Amino acid sequence: MLQSPNMATARCLFRPMTEADIPQVYTIDHECFPAESLFRPYSNYARELRNSMAHYIVACIPSERRMRQLEQPWLKKHLLPSPHLHGPNECTQEDLLIGFTGFWIILDEAHIIAIAVTEPFRRQRIGQGLLLSAIEKAARMHARMVTLEVREKNLGAQSMYTKHGFYVAGRRPHYYTDTQEDAVLMTIDNIQGGDCKTRLAAMKAETLHNDSLAYPVVIPDDMWEARA
Ligand SMILES: CC(C)(COP(=O)(O)OP(=O)(O)OC[C@H]1O[C@@H](n2cnc3c(N)ncnc32)[C@H](O)[C@@H]1OP(=O)(O)O)[C@@H](O)C(=O)NCCC(=O)NCCS
Repeated sequence: MLQSPNMATARCLFRPMTEADIPQVYTIDHECFPAESLFRPYSNYARELRNSMAHYIVACIPSERRMRQLEQPWLKKHLLPSPHLHGPNECTQEDLLIGFTGFWIILDEAHIIAIAVTEPFRRQRIGQGLLLSAIEKAARMHARMVTLEVREKNLGAQSMYTKHGFYVAGRRPHYYTDTQEDAVLMTIDNIQGGDCKTRLAAMKAETLHNDSLAYPVVIPDDMWEARA
């Protein structure tokens, strides 16, 4: 059973997705992408977690009890994130998931499959944090570029991508059969380049530990040691 977060202490924590997260990710995915839900049955998420090309990150609000635990260095080191988090485990079930992103690495390209934040938590830089985390993870895996598709009428998401340096690389006419909308193909090149890294690092600094946000974003330094 999910508990509502305590507003005074709530933090938005990013970590790799685990099997225990699947029910909540499924709900967010279907809320945010209702037209695509036919293509994302429940069993796909478990398959994705086993797919070595796929990498998923979740944004969550840990319970107060868990946040207290995570603030203790020993527990932080041993519980967050670690291989112990794979499979059912009580820690992740205490987390209220509010967003996720997933991407595939194919040769030198990272292709973002989905990025979603549940409606009540939007406009709090959580989408931005997820996008930056995906780009950073892709760069660490030696990807050179990041690509994605977005609906032509989804101007909010397009604005987020443009803000991070993505440009329009092409279109797929009438790609979305429910509305006949075009898919806009967006790309960010050369994520290994110094200019790009400097720009993204500045955006990450603006996103992290920003106490003016309702849910300041926390991305553990050692997040990348676990599989995401
Ligand atoms: C797109 C989405 C992930 C953005 O998440 P979010 O946490 O609300 O976004 P952020 O607060 O991090 O916003 C980052 C930037 O994105 C842009 N942006 C996000 N939502 C926007 C909106 N509704 N209108 C205009 N710009 C928007 C802004 O440039 C914003 O920067 P700013 O706050 O400095 O203006 C979220 O709206 C969502 O889940 N939508 C449904 C699923 C979806 O469309 N995913 C993208 C598919 S390609």
